Formats: sequence, C-alpha cells, structure tokens
Amino acid sequence: MYRQYLSFFGKIQKLSSKCRMKSTAAVPKLTMSDGREIPALGLGTYLGFDKNGMVSSKDKQHRDLVLKAIDLGYRHFDTASIYNTEDEIGEAVEMKIAERVVTREDVFVTTKLWNTQHKQEEVASAVWDALEKSGLDYIDLYLMHWPIGLNADYSFSDVDFMETWRGLEDVHKLGLVKSIGVSNFNKEQLQRLLEEGSVRPVVLQIEVHPQMIQEDLISFARSEDITVMGYSPFGFLVERFGKQFPGPKMDDPVLMEIALKYGKTPAQVVLRWLVDRNVIPIPKTVNPKRLKENISIFDFKLEQDEIEKINRFNSNKRYTEPSFWQTHPHYPFEQVKDILPDPFKGLGTI
Ligand SMILES: NC(=O)c1ccc[n+]([C@@H]2O[C@H](COP(=O)([O-])OP(=O)(O)OC[C@H]3O[C@@H](n4cnc5c(N)ncnc54)[C@H](OP(=O)(O)O)[C@@H]3O)[C@@H](O)[C@H]2O)c1
Repeated sequence: MYRQYLSFFGKIQKLSSKCRMKSTAAVPKLTMSDGREIPALGLGTYLGFDKNGMVSSKDKQHRDLVLKAIDLGYRHFDTASIYNTEDEIGEAVEMKIAERVVTREDVFVTTKLWNTQHKQEEVASAVWDALEKSGLDYIDLYLMHWPIGLNADYSFSDVDFMETWRGLEDVHKLGLVKSIGVSNFNKEQLQRLLEEGSVRPVVLQIEVHPQMIQEDLISFARSEDITVMGYSPFGFLVERFGKQFPGPKMDDPVLMEIALKYGKTPAQVVLRWLVDRNVIPIPKTVNPKRLKENISIFDFKLEQDEIEKINRFNSNKRYTEPSFWQTHPHYPFEQVKDILPDPFKGLGTI
C-alpha cells in the first residue's frame, strides 16, 4: 500500500509541475446580495502566533508576497485588525496601482473588527484605523470577526452583537466600507441579525475544510442569499505551526486519486471542492510556489460524486476553537471539555 502511495505521489508531483507550467487562469467573481462582486478566491493573511505573540512580517516580506500574489492574479486579500497585515497589504496594493498593474476597483480587501471594539461608537474609529494603516480610502468588505464582545483587558463585555452590527451599519452608510458581513456566527445568531438588523449581512466567513464541511450552515446562508467565505480550507490536512493533527493528510488516497485524474495536487482539489460548493476559499501561504499552486484551480471542476467523496471526511472537527471564550453568552460554538489558555490576553485593544 505504502509503495502504491509513493508511486501515486511521484505521479502527482510530475503532474503538478506540468500544471505549474500553465498560465494562471483569471479568478472568477461572485455577486453578493448587495449587487457588488467578490473574487471567488482570496489570499489568507493570518500569520499566526509564536512565543512573542502575533507574528508580524519582517523586512516587508509580506508586502513582497502580496506584490507577487497580485502579479499571479490574486485580487482578494483577507485580513483583520488582529492579524497585523493590513499595512503591508495596503502598501502592496498602492505600489501595484502606481505601476498600473491594477486599479483600486480591481482589488478587493476584506478586513475585520476585533472583539475589543464592539461598542457602536468604537466601530467607526476601528475602521478609520484600518484605513490609516492600509492607506486605502475604503474597505471592500468589513466583517465582525466574532459575535463576542470583550473589554480592553479581555474580560467579557456585555455589549450585544446587535449593538456592534449597528456600528457596522453606520460605517456602511458613511461609505467607509462598501459591504458588511460577519464571521464565526452560528445559525441562530445569523437569524437574529437578519430579523433585527436594517442592513443584511452579505458574507458569512466560517471554517470550512474536509473535516468541517458545514453543510447546514452553508445551506442556511445560501437560502438567505449570504455568500460564504471558507477559512482554514486545508484544515487538518497540513501541519500547522510545527504541529500535526489527527485525520487524513494531503496524501490521502481519495484526494490523490481525484488529483491524479485532473493533473492537480491534492491541495488544489481541496480548494476546488470549496469553489464547487460556492464557498470562497481564502488559503494562506507565504510560499511563492504554493501561492501559484493555490490560485491555479479555475481550469477544472469536480464531479458531484467527487464532492461527496470529500464530504465524507467530515468529522465536525474545528481547528479554530477558542474554548477560553466558551462561557461568553454569545459564544457561537458547542462547548468542549479542555479549555485552552487565552493567547490574546495581554495584546490589548487592537
Ligand atoms: N475569521 C476567522 O476567525 C478566521 C480564522 C482563521 C483563519 N482565517 C483566515 O483564513 C485564512 C486561511 O486559514 P489558515 O491560515 O488558518 O489556514 P489554511 O489556509 O487552511 O492553511 C495554511 C497552512 O497550509 C500551508 N499551505 C498553504 N498552501 C499549501 C499547499 N498548496 N500545499 C500544502 N500546504 C499549504 C501553509 O503553509 P505555508 O504558508 O508555508 O505555505 C499553512 O501552514 C487565514 O490566513 C485568515 O485570513 C479567518
């Protein structure tokens, strides 16, 4: 069996180098319920935590990566005030506009409000901060990162997410952000937003990967004409920050077989699985080779039975599970037994 995998893997590597020779297909766009268009793939820019806290770009490495991404055809960048990447994304966009490679209208920037700025009147100043850091004069899509409000010291605040949503409606009305949506909301929280809000959320950003297929939430969002963005699309298939997780990996025979059929890599098959389910993947990479690999997914399409084969990996296992917030009244996920320490404590208001 192992030998069979090795020979499979050899074939995949040959095929993937062939597919890398082809030019990158343009990223199609989806229309959101407010009539605006959003590219069907984005670049994730969360660089993670290390022993010193949130990882930041050094020597403009991330700016240079975004410059490369724009050359490869990426037009959509997913960031957040907590990621510390808004500045270098903005710098790269500005440079490519100056080079006349793109116009501002060609580029789509999603950023997110952090949990410590949930009071209605704090939202506008958070957006001004994002604009100042990025140098952009508007944000394409502004998301409430979590339905969870926190005080500056990371204790739970009693600000209701509907108050925060009114703040997002204010900045939308002012034209500082073109579209608004939410992230990490569950179905009941979305329903409340739809019933009580004056502006409908156009996007829901949630964790979607082969072990977390989110069938119910995606079909609910679809029934309400809410576009879904899928974060952590590679889930547990990849090692993360030096740690391996249980479950199938990129060399899983099901993924390998589909990859071989299309002359693609298993990573490309997984990204295409999201696209074919009408979910916008936002894979993160800081590796130029994988940057090209991850965008080269618009020249093939999975069959329904292949989508279903990948759906069968589902185990409802979350990678992002902030159990340290699970006693918050608006915690969106099911509670777990093992409570992790809060890595955000001490970061202060972002
Ligand atoms: N809304 C939220 O609460 C939330 C939460 C989490 C993430 N997000 C967003 O979603 C984005 C993506 O999620 P993520 O960063 O957690 O995970 P991801 O994109 O699923 O996976 C990233 C990992 O996969 C590796 N990788 C990338 N392309 C690969 C390929 N073709 N083959 C093999 N390995 C590959 C990366 O390593 P290299 O960098 O070395 O290539 C990195 O270790 C984030 O960056 C962020 O923008 C949002």
